[in-house]
Amino acid sequence: MHEFLRDLPKVELHLHIEGSLEPELMFALAQRNGIQLPYATVQEAKDAYHFSDLQGFLKLYFQGMDVLRNEEDFYDLAMDYFKRARGEGVVHIDMHFDPQAHLQRGVPLEVVMAGLLKAKQEAEDTLDLSIGMIMAFLRDRPADEALHVLEQAAPYWKMLDAIGLDSAEQNNPPANFIDVFKRAQQLELVCVAHAGEEGPAEYIQEALDVLGVERVDHGVRCLESQTVVERLRSEQIVLTVCPLSNVSLKVVDDLRDHPLPKLLAEGLKVTISSDDPAYFGGGMMVNHIACAEAFGWDEAVFRQLTRNAIEEAFVTLERREELLARLAAV
Ligand code: ADE
Ligand code: ZN
Repeated sequence: MHEFLRDLPKVELHLHIEGSLEPELMFALAQRNGIQLPYATVQEAKDAYHFSDLQGFLKLYFQGMDVLRNEEDFYDLAMDYFKRARGEGVVHIDMHFDPQAHLQRGVPLEVVMAGLLKAKQEAEDTLDLSIGMIMAFLRDRPADEALHVLEQAAPYWKMLDAIGLDSAEQNNPPANFIDVFKRAQQLELVCVAHAGEEGPAEYIQEALDVLGVERVDHGVRCLESQTVVERLRSEQIVLTVCPLSNVSLKVVDDLRDHPLPKLLAEGLKVTISSDDPAYFGGGMMVNHIACAEAFGWDEAVFRQLTRNAIEEAFVTLERREELLARLAAV
């Protein structure tokens, strides 16, 4: 099974590039930029990665990314993950990034974009790895700030595939961001949003109805509303489910209690991603192996999940055909 899972041409639709910052690289960048970390050693950082909820994780996530200051740092961050993922048999990644988290610290958008776009180009040229770009907005910050950042990103609109919505979900409903998502639609950007991770099933419905999202990140709490399940099923809206993230953030107590098998049984278009691999125990292989062990899935299930992801990835028609052919050849 491990060999089969490694050979699968895996597609990751839900990855926060800032959440791929491994402690080893965090220390290297801290040294390069003369920054004092709150940890004495790599092991001390790893030991701190125990969370009781999303909010607890976000504190360390924003703290960790403080070492990202220059173009080279963003390039190194992304290349480090791209190489690791490719080594695990990943062939495409739709990458979220959080510009506001960097702007707030005085890091210009140009610095973030230059580093990430350089890494994307190099991955596509040399690693046989395609990369989608999702500019995400922080839902616990004001909506007019998000709108301003989207306008500020005008020189990069053509390089973006989508906008997203992330950060603390509870009490930050999707509808707050209607103007931002309307503007993105005018710009012909695809819209995606985190919904139904910690927040209620109603937030999934709201993201679909009010924000016009084509993809729901997480979405696991949809099972609390049969209306929402029916909607997701009838429109075959993809859910980017992140199993080990949900365990780390206590969305579920144990992977064996995870609703993934139920979501599949409901006929929903499910995919598997790692979310923030440096913080939640690993990347795509670790997530796939954990699911194989927890749910006893056979190869056919993993083929279906991979086909779902390939069908929904932000890729050209040509690349999609190529990836489907590679899946069929495994
Ligand atoms: N930002 C990074 N990871 C996230 C998650 N799991 N949920 C919401 N926002 C995030
Ligand atoms: Zn996420």
